[in-house]
This record gives sequence, structure tokens and C-alpha cells, in this order.
Amino acid sequence: MDNRPIGVFDSGLGGLTAVRRLQELLPHEDIVYFGDTGRVPYGTRSRETIRRYAGEDCRLLLDRDVKFIIAACGTVSSVAPDILTSLPVPAIGVVEPTAAAAAAATRNGRVGIIGTAATIRSASFERALLAIRPDLHITATPCPLFVPLVENGWISQDDPVAIPMVRRYLTQIKADGADTLILGCTHFPLLTPIIQQELGSDVTLIDSGYETARLCAARLRETGQLSADSRPGQSRYYVSDQPEGFSQVAEIFLGHSVEQQVEMVRLDQP
Ligand code: DGL
Repeated sequence: MDNRPIGVFDSGLGGLTAVRRLQELLPHEDIVYFGDTGRVPYGTRSRETIRRYAGEDCRLLLDRDVKFIIAACGTVSSVAPDILTSLPVPAIGVVEPTAAAAAAATRNGRVGIIGTAATIRSASFERALLAIRPDLHITATPCPLFVPLVENGWISQDDPVAIPMVRRYLTQIKADGADTLILGCTHFPLLTPIIQQELGSDVTLIDSGYETARLCAARLRETGQLSADSRPGQSRYYVSDQPEGFSQVAEIFLGHSVEQQVEMVRLDQP
């Protein structure tokens, strides 16, 4: 048994997709979340910068004595997987669990992938999918403008900006007949209603944050590292820029207010 919190990080709000699932699966676990809102987006930056940011994010969580780290960020998981394997606590990224879920879900062998520019450039999801099922037909499209849409909360099903943007980005994936779509950036599940509306209800959307939270729960169970506490788990949220915008969108997404639990931190101060 291990009563220390689970650490989760992302460049901003997207990693809350993993937090929401963790809170459902493991209601007695404490969670420490870091959203690097002062430096979002990561996906348009160079490999070197993303790797440096990932190392700093992990350090911030380790300083808060976490027992396990989820890089709930497709970009970090794709560009800096080796950083996750060199930490003093177990850590996982989103690529492998998401690819496994998509390979199992597809019926026609056609899978679409959307993610940030850095994620799509890295071809991480393709490699992971083809390692499981070499016969798959894959269409990958970068959707960098989805990230600021989500960070600004333009996510409602009738949003007049989001709808044409989703249509434009998904044109090729739709034309190629994918029956399964990997939401390879953890921000993207917040756009699920619009994406599903565009592709139709027959297309299965694979939420990378959700799949990774499931894997984390399974790993903690296997290794006997779940909390021994029977009280409800507490979640704390740290951000690297003003907390207000984060709290507002987080509330819509998590379905409860987080305002009292959000704190601004500086990455250069422990
Ligand atoms: N949520 C992130 C991801 O999964 C990053 C978005 C960004 O910062 O560009 O890729």
C-alpha cells in the first residue's frame, strides 16, 4: 500500500481527461495535477524544448512526492518517452495504451490519428499501432488549432468556430473511411461532441487520457501500490499561469468546481 498521490501533467487542460477517469476508477487516491498553462502549447515547439519542459514538469511532481506519474500529454509521450523511463518512480505516457485500445476497436482496419504537429511528426502512434497490427491502414492529421480552442473553452456542440475547424481537419480521415479515431492529444476529447457529430456515431473515438488512466489503475493494483485510505481522495491542481481560466474550463469538464484547489506555481521554485 502507498498513500502518496498520483502525479499527472500536461501542457494545460488536456490532462484533465486522465484525471476525470482516475477519479472515477480510483476514488480513494490523492491526485496532484500540473498544467503548464504558462507555456502551452507544447505541440508547436521543437523537440529540444518539449523535452526540457517534460523534465521540468516531472521534477515539479516528484517534489510533491508522487508515487506514479502519468504524462497525460500526447506530445510529451511521443517526443520524450525516454525521460519517463528514467524517473525514480514508475511513469507512463499515452501512446501505448491508446494504440492498444484502437487496434482492438477497429473493425475495418482503418484508423485515423489526430494530434499536435509534434506528435504527428514523431509517428509514435503509427509505430505503436503497426507493432500490434501491421495490416492497419492509418491516416494521421495534425490539428494544432484544436489546442487553443479547448484552452479558451470554445467546446460547445454548436460553437460556430469549432464546427468548421473540425470539419476541415477531419476531411481526409473521413474520406479514408476510418472507423476508429485516436484522439492523440489529451485536449481533444473536450471536442468529442463536435468530432462525433462530424464523423457519425459509427466511428469509435479513442480517448488517450482515459486509456492511460485505466493503465495506471491496473499497474497500481498489480504492484500493490494503491492507497490504504478509505476516505475520498483529494485532488490538487497546479498551474504555471493565472488560475482563473483554468478553473472555469476545468469545472465544465470535470463537472465540479476546482477553484479552491488550484494554485499557481513557479517552475523555478520548489
Ligand atoms: N495536451 C497535449 C497533448 O496531448 C498538448 C497540447 C499542446 O500543448 O500543444 O499533446
